[in-house]
Amino acid sequence: MKIAHATGIGRSAVRRVGVDARRRLDVGALAAAIARDRAADEEPFLVVGTAGTTGYGAIDPLPAIADLCAAEGLAFHVDAAWGGYALLSDRLRGFLRGIERADSITWDAHKTLPVPMGAGMFLARASRATAEAFHVSTSYVPDAVSGGVDLYQHSPQWSRRFIGLKVFLTLAELGAAGIADLVDRQTAVAALLRDELARAGWTIRSDTPLALVCFSHPELEPSRERVPRLLRGLEARGDAWLSEVRVPAGGSLLRACVTSHKTNEDDVRALARALDRELASLRR
Ligand SMILES: Cc1ncc(COP(=O)(O)O)c(C=O)c1O
Repeated sequence: MKIAHATGIGRSAVRRVGVDARRRLDVGALAAAIARDRAADEEPFLVVGTAGTTGYGAIDPLPAIADLCAAEGLAFHVDAAWGGYALLSDRLRGFLRGIERADSITWDAHKTLPVPMGAGMFLARASRATAEAFHVSTSYVPDAVSGGVDLYQHSPQWSRRFIGLKVFLTLAELGAAGIADLVDRQTAVAALLRDELARAGWTIRSDTPLALVCFSHPELEPSRERVPRLLRGLEARGDAWLSEVRVPAGGSLLRACVTSHKTNEDDVRALARALDRELASLRR
C-alpha cells in the first residue's frame, strides 16, 4: 500500500485477493480479479505473492501464480522478506518452488540471519523495464563498467550504504553449510514448540514448514479479551514476548516466531511452562 501511494499509482489501484483455507492466495480469485479489471478497462501489471506471510507463515502457490502471470503478461513479485530464508536450507527450499520464476523478490537477511537490522534486499532481474525506469545520462557520472549490471542505471540509488558487508561477513564466516545449519535449527526449535504446545492442550492454528507457530487454547476462544490479556501478563513477567494475530472473523491468536539461532529447546520448554502459568492465572 505504501509503495502504491509513494509511486503515485495510488492505494485505490491495489486489489486485495482472497485466500484459501490454508491462507494462501486463491489463484482462481486472482484470475477473476484480473478479468474483472480488464473488463473495466483497467490495466493490471503486477502480481505480488508472498512466501511466508507475517501472520501465519503461509506460502502462496508460487508456480500457479507464475503460470498466470506468464499467461496474462504480468510482472510477478514475491515478498519473501521473512520466508526467503527457506532457500538457504536443503530441507526447506522445495517449499518455495516457483520463486525462481519471479521478476523480483524482497528478502530481509536480518529477519533470520545473525545480522543487525536492517539488511533488506530487493532483487530484480535487470531488464528493459528497470533500464527504462531508472536510466539517466549525465556528464559527471562515469559510463557503466562493462561486464556487470550498472545498478545506477537499473535502480533508484547510485551512492549507497554498504549494507551488504554485514551479510557478506556472516556468509563468509559461516559458509553456506553453517547458515543452513542455523536455519534448520531454528525450524526444528519451532517444530518442538508446536509439539510441546499441542501436547499441553493448545490448539495449533498455523500450517507452515517455517519457524513460526500460531496457536490458541479452547479456554481463550470464548472471549476476545483473553489473548491480549494473556500476552500482557506474559510480557509483564518478562518471561517471553509473543505477538498477536487478529483473525478477520474476530478474535486473535498467539504467534511465536523463532528469529534467533540462540533460541533453544530449554527456551521452548520455558515458554510452554510460562504459557500454562498465564492461562492458569486467567482462570482466577
Ligand atoms: C512478509 C513480510 N513482508 C514485508 C515485511 C516488511 O519488511 P521491512 O521491515 O523490510 O519493510 C515484513 C516484516 O515483518 C514481512 O514479514
